Amino acid sequence: MKLFKFMCYILLVSLTAAVSNKSFPAKFKFGTATASYQIEGAWNEDGKGENIWDRLTHTNATAVKNSDNGDVACDSYHKYKEDVRLLKHLGVKVYRFSISWSRILPTGFTNKVNQPGIQYYKNLIKELLDNGIEPMATLYHWDLPQPLQDIGGWPNELLADHFANYARVCFKAFGDSVKTWLTFNEAKQTCQQGYGSATMAPLIKSPGVADYLCTYTVLKAHAKAWHIYDDEFRGKQRGRVSTVVDSDWYEPASNSTSDMEAAETRRQFTFGLYANAIFLGNWPQVVIDRVDYRSENEGYAKSRLPKFTKQEIDYIRGTHDFMGFNTYTTSLVCKIEEPTFNETDYEFDMGSNAFQDPTWEATNSTWLKIVPWGARKFLNWIKNTYNNPEIIITENGVSDAGLLKDDARIHYYTEYLSAILEAIHTDKVHVSGYMAWSLLDNYEWLAGYTEKFGLYHVDFSSPNRTRTAKKSVDFYKKIVATHCLVD
Ligand code: NOJ
Repeated sequence: MKLFKFMCYILLVSLTAAVSNKSFPAKFKFGTATASYQIEGAWNEDGKGENIWDRLTHTNATAVKNSDNGDVACDSYHKYKEDVRLLKHLGVKVYRFSISWSRILPTGFTNKVNQPGIQYYKNLIKELLDNGIEPMATLYHWDLPQPLQDIGGWPNELLADHFANYARVCFKAFGDSVKTWLTFNEAKQTCQQGYGSATMAPLIKSPGVADYLCTYTVLKAHAKAWHIYDDEFRGKQRGRVSTVVDSDWYEPASNSTSDMEAAETRRQFTFGLYANAIFLGNWPQVVIDRVDYRSENEGYAKSRLPKFTKQEIDYIRGTHDFMGFNTYTTSLVCKIEEPTFNETDYEFDMGSNAFQDPTWEATNSTWLKIVPWGARKFLNWIKNTYNNPEIIITENGVSDAGLLKDDARIHYYTEYLSAILEAIHTDKVHVSGYMAWSLLDNYEWLAGYTEKFGLYHVDFSSPNRTRTAKKSVDFYKKIVATHCLVD
């Protein structure tokens, strides 16, 4: 009898453990994410100024699949109330959206503040709060006001001040209601793609030069905004500010020491390029070492990497209240023995090749393979590298061709959320939230409307931009409601 009772007890304990390992912590927050240029449309309405995506799509349409643009996109500028109804239906606690800089400051500078732009976000925020949904606002999701590009864009250090001024306008206008702020979304795409590989607006090709200058400005811009919040707003508004960092998870292609080192180097050149200065201080050492940083030892500046002063290092270090993390996929890394890149190239600096295993599960985006164990490893690496910060997963999701019966999306979310649960329960990584990308099918940058990431389908051929729930809506709604990943 005693043995029977004992066996029952063991069974109960393991059942409870099994269920709780499928549960998210009580305070864990689910949400969805979008970005201004990708959904708003109304590109020239109510005083909005031109931004670099307006300019690119209007003057260089062939750079984008099907010459698509975001002039109307999901028309969320006019349909925000409907969008909030969709969020309410999902039951999510948080909505992450971005503010269009040129809707607030049409020239990018603070000489003119556009009241209708301010009013639009006030209306959206009010609608969210009235429906019990927390606003989480990103200040910069890639849509730089064109006049700021005309003075050189992010490689011009002056933009740090212009961004800080813009941030202050936003904190002042919205900070009584918005309590979670993100300065930059995936600044790596802005710098290493926008000014490096020329695969994002403004399509400038200067890898290994302008991209580092951009990163330097962005890090200073972020820090200025964080300090402005800290000095002028935090006391009264009591919110939190951080930034969103991303990259693939880089896994060594073999267990050779050289591949393992190459993978870590690549992590530092991508994720570390942004996170190191903010969470630990300065550029990652391996980045300094590899970009020919010899100014002090050899008495001349040979580096392409701008050097932070001691004061700047201290000013940037610690400018975070949590970490925003976007994660989508994984790549393998092997060291290049004889680099074929130009010696001043960013790829040359990294010294490796990154590629994906063709046997990994494919999706509608060529770059996005389904590799959930990569997300778990990444979370562990962040925990160990950056002193166990609180992490909010600010984006995760998958594209398809726009099917309403989107089993592929349900599969992706199931796999990634399981990996995240393991990171939380087994590895004790401090993950406090998850924003599914995306609420709606939307404008996917140079891929136009060919890659659909939405929980809701949008009919881009109808003037009404009709929204229709996909199968994944019920799936996500259930997870949000039960806080649990069980079928
Ligand atoms: C990350 C970016 O932040 C977002 O704008 C984009 O649509 C998704 N990745 C999917 O590519």
